[in-house]
Amino acid sequence: MRLRAGRDGDAEAVIRIVGACWAEYPGCVMDLDGEVPELRALASYAGKRGGAFFVAEGDDGPAGLVCCWPHEDGAWELAKMYVAREARGRGVADTLARAVEDHARAEGAERVVLWSDTRFERAHRFYEKRGYVRAGALRALGDKSNSIEFAYAKPLRGIAVQALDAAAAASAVAPLAEVLIACVEAGASVSFMPPLPAAKARGFWREVARGVARGERVLLAAWLDGAIVGTAQLALAPQENQPHRAEVQKMLVHPAARRRGIGRRLLAGTEQAAATAGRTLLTLDTGVGGEGEHLYRAAGWQEAGMIPGYALWPDGTPCATRFFYKRVQPAAHRDAPPPGGGARPEAHHRRVNETGHIR
Ligand SMILES: CC(C)(COP(=O)(O)OP(=O)(O)OC[C@H]1O[C@@H](n2cnc3c(N)ncnc32)[C@H](O)[C@@H]1OP(=O)(O)O)[C@@H](O)C(=O)NCCC(=O)NCCS
Repeated sequence: MRLRAGRDGDAEAVIRIVGACWAEYPGCVMDLDGEVPELRALASYAGKRGGAFFVAEGDDGPAGLVCCWPHEDGAWELAKMYVAREARGRGVADTLARAVEDHARAEGAERVVLWSDTRFERAHRFYEKRGYVRAGALRALGDKSNSIEFAYAKPLRGIAVQALDAAAAASAVAPLAEVLIACVEAGASVSFMPPLPAAKARGFWREVARGVARGERVLLAAWLDGAIVGTAQLALAPQENQPHRAEVQKMLVHPAARRRGIGRRLLAGTEQAAATAGRTLLTLDTGVGGEGEHLYRAAGWQEAGMIPGYALWPDGTPCATRFFYKRVQPAAHRDAPPPGGGARPEAHHRRVNETGHIR
């Protein structure tokens, strides 16, 4: 299978592949001239929008396609991703998505957005594995297929930390489970013992998403060059006598992505989320001798004491646990101009932006 630029002359294969994909789903019908005439000349269509059209070609001709084009706000849209049924399971969609992401990145894109019909569940699993999360409202096309589409998005370049709402959290279960499993395998003492089955890890993140939906916790995800590699949570203390407290939980960075400042960014994100939620006392506990201790000390957290044999390391040996706390100022306080006026510090702006919801 090789990747090449698509041509208007690929129309016959394009129409055949897209039509067959739609026919796999009940109620999906193609009205070529009425609704998708662009399939007759996709290279021109993408070109007019300043975008690109790629084709994956095997020995028997085109087996998959994808388009992309820029929006005005720094996003590139990935569109018309279709792989012929007989070519699936061989990484063709991965190759096509990577082509779009590489192209968009080279063109200066900050993020990639896409729309996917609510019926295309296989596609959703594919996008979610690649770090795309549900982003914002659904749209109804009013077409003959009665299409209702989910929006997906992901940041594309460098390190990005963002809060996930409940829909985004539920769509991030697969990559978050991979991060958790990798951390447990690598020796982290984070509630679970190895081997941690994928189904159990996914069940954990689904429950976290439910907690986000109930407003009990804030979930942050960290992307590195478009892949989800880290996460942290802020659990808002439910006790009525602790309305000012929240706990940092499950601070995890994939072993392959450590020591690049991702943990530090996630921790800053939880502190910002706490400030926004009006929680001024943050607490956490972490295994003595684990990497977390270094991170929390480096970020100015105070030690509050240690309990021997509190938990187990993944190898089954007892793990002492150290408690940390940090006080943060509520957001209203932090947003006030510094005494004497003047601009807010640059670092503050960055933190605010880092935890914004993905658009
Ligand atoms: C703890 C963890 C989240 C840190 O993630 P990270 O992305 O590697 O952290 P950062 O790169 O942002 O590190 C920030 C600072 O923390 C300190 N630090 C982090 N890991 C360290 C380590 N292994 N040794 C020494 N210092 C370390 C350093 O001061 C570092 O700054 P520097 O790299 O400029 O020296 C990651 O190691 C992890 O997921 N560990 C397993 C899970 C775990 O134990 N989580 C804590 C549960 S409470």
